[in-house]
Formats: sequence, structure tokens, C-alpha cells
Amino acid sequence: MSKSSLIIIRTILAKLSSGEFYSGQALANDLGLSRTSVANYIKQLKELGLDIYSVKGRGYSLSSAITLLDPVQINAPKRVKRPAILVHEITDSTNIQLQQRIKSGTITELGSAIVAEAQTAGRGRRGRNWYSPFGSNLYFSMYWRLDHGMQGAMGLSLAVGLAIVRTLKHYYSVIAKLKWPNDVYINDKKVAGILIELSGQANADCDVVIGLGLNINMPANASSNIDQPFTSLAQHTVLPIDRNKLIVYLQQELIHILTEFSQSGFAGFVNEFNDVNQYQNRLIKIITAEEQLGICRGVDDQGALLLETKQGLQTIFGGEVSVRGQN
Ligand code: BTN
Repeated sequence: MSKSSLIIIRTILAKLSSGEFYSGQALANDLGLSRTSVANYIKQLKELGLDIYSVKGRGYSLSSAITLLDPVQINAPKRVKRPAILVHEITDSTNIQLQQRIKSGTITELGSAIVAEAQTAGRGRRGRNWYSPFGSNLYFSMYWRLDHGMQGAMGLSLAVGLAIVRTLKHYYSVIAKLKWPNDVYINDKKVAGILIELSGQANADCDVVIGLGLNINMPANASSNIDQPFTSLAQHTVLPIDRNKLIVYLQQELIHILTEFSQSGFAGFVNEFNDVNQYQNRLIKIITAEEQLGICRGVDDQGALLLETKQGLQTIFGGEVSVRGQN
């Protein structure tokens, strides 16, 4: 999308964001465009997942008001200096964008992050897409490094999950649970997913891109694009959710937790994880090449899953493991 198209889209959204009606003619006049051209931009916005509808004689309106991401507010100076957060409107994937900047040396400070209003190629785990409609959720990627190479990565994803759980509890009084190794749940439905991508040597320092997608207010029409039960944070709290603030809270909590993780590893987080483990002491099925049934006994010091089976206590390491609750 060209820069001028992006500016027009942002201007239209700034006008519609209040949830009020805005006529096609008024938009056309304000933007110096034809009505047909305005209609085309509205079509593009709908394709990006925005729930915009039109009423004859009144114009266009968003189904609910949204607060757009604001780079100035997000990066406003604070008492404690924070690593910069780059704000994209529409991008392919914040993980891809961050990887490119790490590779080119444009981003070097740990804790630096990229967020976007919408992703056109949002990446999920196992090569899946991550549905990323405009303006309704959080698409956030943060830079970190692991000193001990890839073996530390399993605990890292659990620590990232804990940062999300802590943030939701502290600022929104929401109790979220973690499904080992990468998912965040509220009331048995997925609210957030984590995708950690590493580059570097297996046993040496490696660069880490921590991507997280958190549903804030997923549009009602999203179900056809998502293949599992999902929920949004806004459904579970009466407190206002300002994404500009939430981004900063998450960055701060992630830096806090990951600094501890980098110094002392995962051991100090085991009890906290087990307390919020979605399947703690429940019968689960682990699906890898084969299926294994057992009672989930939480995680060990490395973040590996402990499964009590008929053959004894098994330790499940990362990899493509699916955990399905059995009761
Ligand atoms: C999952 O499959 O559960 C993980 C989803 C991770 C999605 C986030 S959104 C921000 C970042 N950029 C991406 O392309 N993916 C991650």
C-alpha cells in the first residue's frame, strides 16, 4: 500500500473511530476525493477486518468506537527510559519486520518492539496464519537475546506467558491461564498466542523475536477466519482498555520478567506457572508423532511438561506438541 493511501486510510479512520456516522460526501469533501474513491477505501478497510457498515442517508459508521494506536503516547518520555516501540499501521507481520531490523542492525536495544494496527501475513505457530484485523487487537513483537542458545527457549515462552497473565491481572483484574507451551486462555477460550522465533547458533548467543497476538475486541465476524474457540479481553473486564497503555504495560512486564529469566533461568517461575496452568492435575492427551495420555503435573525447572503416565513420570520437551484437555 502506498504512503498516500495509508494517509487517507488513517484520516478516514480518525473520523470514524468515534463510532459516529460520517457521510460519504463529507469524507469525499474533507479528503479531496470522489465518492467512488472513498467507497473503495472503505472496501479496503473492510477487507482489513474493520466492521464498517453504511446506512442510506446517514453514511458510514464503525460498529464500535476504537482508539487508534498513537506512537507519541506510546513512546512518551517517562521517569524510567524505555526502549523504543515502532508503530506500524498495516504491515505483513511484526515478527518479520523486527527480524529484518535486527538483521540490518537498525534495532539493537533489548526490549525494543514493533506493534501494528493490522497484519496482512500474521504468523501463528506451525505455519498457521494469525488473523489480524485492523484496530481491534494487539500485534506485538519484542527483541530479546538468549545467552545459552536455543535450549533456553522453552522456558522463555512460558515466562512470556506469565508476563501476559500478570499484566491482565494487575491492570484489568482478569484471571488468565496458560496452556503449555504457548497459549493464554480466559474461561477455556484462547485470548492470546505467543510465537517465539530464534536466529543464531544452537549453543551460542541467539537473537529472539517474541511475537504475541492478544485479542482485545475481535470483531464478531471473525469466526470464519479462526479455527478454534477464542475470546477477547474486552469481554472479561469492565475496566477501559487503552491499547496504547496496554502496549507499554506489556513491554515493561516482559522486560522485567525476561531480565530475571536471563539471569536465573526458569526455575524461579515454576510455582507461578503451575498455579495458572490450564491443565494442572488434569487428564490430558499429548499429541506428537503418537498420542500419550496422562495427568499433567506442571513443569520442571527447564519449563518441560511433566506427564504422569502408566509408565511413570514422562518429561515432554518442546517441539510440535499439542495438549488437549480430557476433562
Ligand atoms: C499462535 O499460533 O498461537 C501464535 C500467534 C502469534 C501471533 C503474533 S501477532 C504479532 C506477531 N507477529 C506475527 O506475525 N505473529 C506474532
